[in-house]
Amino acid sequence: MSDKNKNVASTGNTVGKVTSAGGPGFGNKREEGLSGKVLLKVDGLKVSYGGIEAVRGISFDVPEGEIVTLIGANGAGKSSTLRAIVGLEKAAGGTITFNGAELTSMGTEQIVKNGITLVPEGRRVFVNLSVYENLRMGAYLRKDDLSADLEWVYSLFPRLKERHWQAAGTLSGGEQQMLAIARALMSRPQMIMMDEPSLGLAPIIVQEVFDIIREINRQGMTILLVEQNANMALKAADKGYVMETGRITLNGTGMELAENDEVKEAYLGKSHK
Ligand SMILES: Nc1ncnc2c1ncn2[C@@H]1O[C@H](COP(=O)(O)OP(=O)(O)OP(=O)(O)O)[C@@H](O)[C@H]1O
Ligand SMILES: [Mg+2]
Repeated sequence: MSDKNKNVASTGNTVGKVTSAGGPGFGNKREEGLSGKVLLKVDGLKVSYGGIEAVRGISFDVPEGEIVTLIGANGAGKSSTLRAIVGLEKAAGGTITFNGAELTSMGTEQIVKNGITLVPEGRRVFVNLSVYENLRMGAYLRKDDLSADLEWVYSLFPRLKERHWQAAGTLSGGEQQMLAIARALMSRPQMIMMDEPSLGLAPIIVQEVFDIIREINRQGMTILLVEQNANMALKAADKGYVMETGRITLNGTGMELAENDEVKEAYLGKSHK
């Protein structure tokens, strides 16, 4: 972790602990205790577009079983960070270590095989394919039987089960977001990264999406969540990092950041208490 980051409070992680990653029927892992193991370690990551440095040497950790959020305004470099982790942008500097493996020299396919998946900004489901076909696409790197995982994601998202054969492009925005998350889960990741899952959704649907995020995490999944909806993200997260113009400027537990005056002023709106 960069020593330039300002930790908003000295208290450590006080939430329940978890052990391993998710899969069908893996119960309530959070209640079994967190391992404390760092699953993803980002150290000094830089991402540049042409001569412009969008991510300027950021460092953060994602412990196994936790929800970690990156919050920040438009253009802060949040999506660039997620895209670099999954190999869609090349890191211009720094290291990304996942489960002990160094990712910066790997291609996206190999990174996905290592257990990371990204739910991209703007969802990007295959509009002409059915819900079912979209889910199968999420598992395209797998050769094993998918039926248990299909049952699992349909149990998480009963509305998708009802719409099994519906073309994804005809789903509502909220349903498409659910499908994008479900599709990502079909690769059976150890860590799922979500880029602004609440974007453009009505408040009641945002609540549903966050309920699902919590449920997936309760079942043991490690989650790296990028959000502009700082209020919801900090409520859900064990730990948070605030990004501003390519740098991490604050970090702390979700609760600490939600109570922090600078965060309240900049990201939570004046009415938030
Ligand atoms: N493909 C690209 N080519 C050139 N510049 C880019 C590219 N992608 C992103 N950028 C720039 O990098 C900076 C960070 O963008 P990024 O998308 O990572 O921000 P963000 O925090 O995800 O923002 P938002 O909340 O609006 O999604 C911005 O200044 C953006 O214009
Ligand atoms: Mg973005």
